[in-house]
Amino acid sequence: MPKKLFIETLGCAMNVRDSEHMIAELNAHEGYELTDDASSADLILINTCSVREKPVHKLFSELGVFNKLKKADAKIGVCGCTASHLGKEIIKRAPYVNFVLGARNVSKIADVLHRDRAVEIEIDYDESEFAFKDFRSSPYKAYINISIGCDKQCTFCIVPKTRGDEISIPADLIIAETRKAVENGAKEVFLLGQNVNNYGRRFSGENEKMNFTELLRRVSAVEGLERIRFTSPHPLHMDDEFIEEFARNPKICKSMHMPLQSGSSEILKAMKRGYTKEWFLNRARKLRELVPDVSISTDIIVAFPGESDEDFEDTMDVLNQVRFEQLFSFKYSPRPLTEAEKMEEVDSEVGSERLNRLQARHDEILDEMKSVNLGKVVEVYFEELRESGHVAGRSDNNLSVKVKGSEEWLGKIAQVKITEVSRNVQYGEIIA
Ligand code: SAH
Ligand code: F3S
Repeated sequence: MPKKLFIETLGCAMNVRDSEHMIAELNAHEGYELTDDASSADLILINTCSVREKPVHKLFSELGVFNKLKKADAKIGVCGCTASHLGKEIIKRAPYVNFVLGARNVSKIADVLHRDRAVEIEIDYDESEFAFKDFRSSPYKAYINISIGCDKQCTFCIVPKTRGDEISIPADLIIAETRKAVENGAKEVFLLGQNVNNYGRRFSGENEKMNFTELLRRVSAVEGLERIRFTSPHPLHMDDEFIEEFARNPKICKSMHMPLQSGSSEILKAMKRGYTKEWFLNRARKLRELVPDVSISTDIIVAFPGESDEDFEDTMDVLNQVRFEQLFSFKYSPRPLTEAEKMEEVDSEVGSERLNRLQARHDEILDEMKSVNLGKVVEVYFEELRESGHVAGRSDNNLSVKVKGSEEWLGKIAQVKITEVSRNVQYGEIIA
């Protein structure tokens, strides 16, 4: 009987890829197979996120639940950013945890498994050229890391302290991985990094220097690959060359994540984001000019320390001017090891009100914009079968589209006419 692995993945796309890497390593070296039933697992892994406080609190109650329901001799491991941040503290608070493995130490998974109470959380550890074994949760879309860590010091963000300094992965490894994914049936790759358009600033070995725009050109030359997505670019590094390549390269999907964080130049300065409100608006305008169909998503934090009503109105102003197609919004959460931790917080209720106002206005904007898509023909890559008798996928510009259909459409790209629209999903008919 193969041993069984249950894995829960929280947080960002990079965690999803780290989980795939751990699954692959555990399968290749230890013979583990995946299960979605924690009570029958021989190993339970939680791949954690530490970006906001709430999920960290939840970790310990969740660990308690897993400890109760697990098989007597099953092991529990805590991985990811909270593992990097809390380290051995996790074993102190939950002594039944067998090992703690940081977000930058994923390649050691098969090793820590056999060292009771191991804590591997070194943030200088270099995995940029590690040859992970292969596992993908979806045959259609391949996540590919292009860098590890982050060199920015955004004052609210714990990530540089959990994932360490930024190192780029050599382009030839990225291209080889892309080729392999395409050979295995993927038409789309999703390039991942904390700050993708900072690519190429530093490699750990002697590697061909190249920036992100050049990397995009190289990846797009891979035969058989049809779509490229990436996350997350940083607005500061969105130079003309990058936006022009984005506009002109037919393989690059026309959806861009532009994490605003705040619309106030003062607050952006306090956050050390490196750009102003005007720069952000200028970049968004250029993008919409060159790519009229582009969909722009963003991340916004409200109630960063020192945010006045006026600062918040600047954020609302950017929301109203850019009219984002997708918004991920958060109330500021003070994080340990960050510069902003010691700054005086905005009243919590004020923060909640601002978050509500922002989200309500965004919903209105979506309602105002949604009819634009009605009757349009978009190209959809089908990736998922839904119980309702639909197949679902995304348009080039990231609309979520469902059509009546069966698995024969999975992995195919089709022209779809949109016949029904709502805020978050569109229904349509395949026309070719
Ligand atoms: N570079 C990464 C950022 C990871 S954090 C990326 O672009 O994916 C993801 C988002 O969480 C950030 O863009 C920010 O909006 C939010 N975030 C980070 N730290 C936060 C904090 N202390 N409080 C609230 N939200 C935060
Ligand atoms: Fe965090 Fe800023 Fe890097 S949000 S991940 S420090 S770009």
